[in-house]
Amino acid sequence: MRFVFLGLPGAGKGTQARVLSERLGIPQISTGDTLREAVQEGTPLGIQARIYMDRGEYVPDAVMVRMVDERLHDPDASKGFILDGFPRTVPQARALDEVLAVAGTPLDAVVQFLITDDIAIRRITGRFTCPMCKRTYHEEWRPPAEDTVCDVDGTPLEKRNDEDTLTVKRRLAIYREQTQPLEAFYAERDLLRTVNAEAPPDAVSDGMFEALRDLL
Ligand code: AP5
Repeated sequence: MRFVFLGLPGAGKGTQARVLSERLGIPQISTGDTLREAVQEGTPLGIQARIYMDRGEYVPDAVMVRMVDERLHDPDASKGFILDGFPRTVPQARALDEVLAVAGTPLDAVVQFLITDDIAIRRITGRFTCPMCKRTYHEEWRPPAEDTVCDVDGTPLEKRNDEDTLTVKRRLAIYREQTQPLEAFYAERDLLRTVNAEAPPDAVSDGMFEALRDLL
């Protein structure tokens, strides 16, 4: 099964991709996580990407398409994948179509997680992330069992550089301008499934499984 997850920053794409990945045994491919790793390692990609990410802007399409094309050729992606954070622009979506057409492996569904801007801002400004396993926590809605460390591996949790309110508002505006057109792009191809993502995480997972029921 091959899925794309769409939704505002903070919609819960990463949270739900992890759930579906575990259920289906297919990898979650998060372009945000891959870029943050490159930034942390100080690779040429990371040095270039950081300038855009810290401002809440998108990394150029050509860089992202090359990165995802390479990742989709890894053996673990051969039986399926969940793309979390890609595509984010129409040119990226067209490029993905071409890569998958060459491989003869089209997408099965695009899942769009719906939340309001206010919820997006509250979720992101309250988020903490484990730099080791990438699990996310929330100070209000999903606190870790022990104050500031990851429940799974005990690593101290961190805040990202793009989580202050001003940068989040900028990310929301860029989403509206550059990513929202993908809703029509995928609706026209009869791939779009929508999930109300404002409920607690388990209820959102139920909604996701319901939206994909005929495929799973
Ligand atoms: P990326 O890391 O992909 O960020 P994003 O898409 O903006 O999404 P987030 O990771 O902020 O949110 P999410 O929807 O995954 O929510 P989460 O599950 O964490 O990208 C970062 C940057 O990288 C971009 O700005 C750009 O610069 C660059 N980039 C990446 N891909 C790119 C591309 N294709 N092209 C160009 N540039 C690219 O949940 C959020 C919080 O809410 C967490 O604390 C979580 O615990 C909590 N939560 C989740 N679900 C619920 C719930 N149901 N109820 C209550 N709390 C919840």
